[in-house]
Amino acid sequence: MALLRKSAYINGGWIDAIDGGRFDVLNPADDAVIASVPDMDAGDAATAIAAAETAWQYWRSEPPAARAAVLRAWEQQIQEHKGELAELLTLEQGKPLAEAQAEIDYGAAFIRWFADEAEADRTERLVSPDSAKDMRVIRQPIGVVAAITPWNFPVAMVTRKCAPAIAAGCSVVLKPAEATPLSALALAELADRAGIPSGVFNVLTCSAGERVGVELTRNPVVRKLSFTGSTAIGKQLLGACAGTVKNVSMELGGNAPFIIFDDADIDLAVAGTLASKFRNTGQTCISPNRIYVQSGIYDRYAQKLSDKVGQLKSGSGMADGVRLGPLINRAALEKVQRHVVDAVAKGAQVLCGGQRHDLGGAFYMPTVLTDMSADMLIAKEETFGPVAPLFRFESEAEVVAAANDTQSGLAAYVYSADQALAERVATELEYGMVGINEAGISSEVAPFGGIKQSGIGREGSHHGIDEYLELKYLCTRA
Ligand code: SIN
Repeated sequence: MALLRKSAYINGGWIDAIDGGRFDVLNPADDAVIASVPDMDAGDAATAIAAAETAWQYWRSEPPAARAAVLRAWEQQIQEHKGELAELLTLEQGKPLAEAQAEIDYGAAFIRWFADEAEADRTERLVSPDSAKDMRVIRQPIGVVAAITPWNFPVAMVTRKCAPAIAAGCSVVLKPAEATPLSALALAELADRAGIPSGVFNVLTCSAGERVGVELTRNPVVRKLSFTGSTAIGKQLLGACAGTVKNVSMELGGNAPFIIFDDADIDLAVAGTLASKFRNTGQTCISPNRIYVQSGIYDRYAQKLSDKVGQLKSGSGMADGVRLGPLINRAALEKVQRHVVDAVAKGAQVLCGGQRHDLGGAFYMPTVLTDMSADMLIAKEETFGPVAPLFRFESEAEVVAAANDTQSGLAAYVYSADQALAERVATELEYGMVGINEAGISSEVAPFGGIKQSGIGREGSHHGIDEYLELKYLCTRA
C-alpha cells in the first residue's frame, strides 16, 4: 500500500477539499473501507483549473523531446511499481490480480506510445494553387483539458486520455470515477516522481461527478472535455459543454454484437467469447452484449460455451485461480439481475448461472442464456455483467440488420472461415471497431472509439493525439 494516497493532487501538492469533506472508497469484494479521500466540489475544481492554466503557459512551449522524456520517466515509474499498482487496482475495482497486471501493461503502453507521438512532426505542407503563397498547417495544444474517467479501467483509461494530452502540450484536470480514485492518485504520485511539472497533471476526487462537473463544463478556461462513461451522462456533459463551445471526446456505451457463422472455428469462437465477454466480469464497453449464432452450430456452440463458463471461478480478485471478481456495486448487480429475469420471463433458457452468486455481495454467477429474442432488455441495453445471451439467426442479411438495430456503434465481432463473408459483414456493420475471428481488439496502436451514440473521437493510435491539438493554417507570401 506504499502508493496509497489519501489527498487530491493539485498543482504538484497533496491537498484536501476546501470544506474538509471526505468520502470512503470501498473494496467491492467485501465492502471493506480501503481509505477515504477528499470530497471536492466546484471551488476545488476552480483551483485545479487555475493551476492547470498557469502550467499550460509553460508546458505548451516545452520542446517535444522534453515532454516525451517526462512521459517516458512516468512509464518507467509505473513499470517499477507495477505490483503495488495492480494490488491497489484490484482492491478498489475488484478485477482479478492477473487482469489488473494486464491493465497496468495496457495503461503503460499508452504512455510509451504517446511519448513517441509527442516527437512526431505533424506539420503539413499544402500544394498551393498560387505560387505567391506558401501554405502550411501546424498543430498546437488545445489548452486545459478536463478528463473524466470510468471505474472499469482505473489506470488504462487515465493514461489513454492524459498521456496524449500531456504529449500534445496540454495540461489536465482529471476527475477519476468515485469508485476508483486510488489508482488515479497512485498514478499522480508516480507522475510527480517522474518530474511531470506542477499543474500539468491534477487529480480531483469527489463522491459524485456533478460536484465538480459543473465547473469542469462551464469554466471557459477548460478548452476540452474528454469523457468515458455511459451514453446518458455523455449527453448531459455534451449539453453542459455547449455554453462554452468546448471541444469534446466521448467514449460512450456499447451494445456489441458477436456474430458466429456456421463455418466458424467453433473452439476459436468459444475462446473469443470467454475472453471478451467475461473480461472484467463483463464490465467493458466492448463486451459482447448480443451473441448471434447461426442455427447450424447454435446448439453445439451453446453447450461448449456453457461447459467452459460453468468452470469459471468467482471470488476476491486477490485470491488464486479467480477468473471473475465482483461487480462494481449493488446497483450494477441489480441491473444484471433485472436483465436476466426479464429474459427468462420472455422465454430465455438458463444453461448455466442465472442468479446471484453464493458468495453474496456484488457477485453474480457467470451465466449463459439461450433462446434470446429482440424484445428482451438485453437486446436493447448494455448489461455490463457476466451474462452471455445467445440469439439464433439464419441468414447474413438477417444478422446484419439485427446487429445494426441499435443506437450504439462501438465494437462488433464476426467469426467465419469465409474471409470474404467476414470482411463483407464487417464493412456493413455500423461500428467503430470490428474484430474478425479475433476478440482481443484493444491496443495502444489502434483507434478506439465508436459511431452513432457510442461516441465522438478516437483514443490511442496516431489519431489519439489529434484530439488534443488544434489545427492552424498559415498562409505566407512567398
Ligand atoms: C472500455 O471498456 O471502456 C475500455 C475497454 C478497452 O480499452 O479494452
